[in-house]
Amino acid sequence: MSVEPQTRRLNAIDILSRKGGTPIVSLTSYHAHTAAIMDPHVDFILVGDSLGMVMHGLESTIPVTLDMMILQGLAVMRGSKRALVVVDMPFGSYEESPQAAFRSAARIMKETGCGAVKMEGGVHMAETVRFLTQRGVPVMGHIGLTPQSFNTMGGFKVQGKTEASVAAVLADARAIADAGAFALVVEGVIEPVAREITQSVAIPTIGIGASPDCDGQILVLEDMLGLSPRVPKFVKKFGNLGGLIGEAISSYAEEVKARTFPAPENVYTLKTPAAAEAAAKSKG
Ligand code: KIV
Repeated sequence: MSVEPQTRRLNAIDILSRKGGTPIVSLTSYHAHTAAIMDPHVDFILVGDSLGMVMHGLESTIPVTLDMMILQGLAVMRGSKRALVVVDMPFGSYEESPQAAFRSAARIMKETGCGAVKMEGGVHMAETVRFLTQRGVPVMGHIGLTPQSFNTMGGFKVQGKTEASVAAVLADARAIADAGAFALVVEGVIEPVAREITQSVAIPTIGIGASPDCDGQILVLEDMLGLSPRVPKFVKKFGNLGGLIGEAISSYAEEVKARTFPAPENVYTLKTPAAAEAAAKSKG
């Protein structure tokens, strides 16, 4: 009896061990099908709270709930078998106290089966990161432009442009790394500062609007596929799926109106014995 070789899912320690090595490849996904498509190509899949904007048309990530993250995290786990799945902790589910953060993280891990959670914040979240990692929750940090804080930041602001901002973002990176995070997303930080962060922490940095010298890169899938109506400057469109989907839907609409779809091969017919025999003969 032949036994299919089992694919082992990557874990947080595998990602940690990639510091300074081959760049870590990652993308966001919120669905089983896109997770399955990217699974052979990426090291980790982030179920990002960007799903609020991408899937639900929200203006920001603030209204995203724990239940929304768990539902989509479960779908991504079902669709993938090799990549580490990291689920974002949404606004309001972790900031209040390390204990509240642990309860939310435990729900995410129990109910989705994912291998790690991600949370935004620097120095002020270090105690929470330590609390979680000491209790069996692998944590990915997220510093620089942290979208959940856009109300206090005064918008989606690139970080590291002033001396004070450079010092703050470096302190954030060191605090989260020292607290035991296994990797750190560095978002919207000017390039030389993102490089300096990468050189000054012992955990892999994952850049988004940061630097090619980060230990890995992440993009929102729909942005890089050309599906999002507006994207930030740091996004490169690796495809134009928006255009392709528009063309396919327009062809479908034309064929429905012309009654050329469904064609004979797209409908079910009741086969007579004579028709079944003719079909069998034609197949050889
Ligand atoms: O929510 C998200 O998609 C993210 C990435 C942009 C890093 O946090």
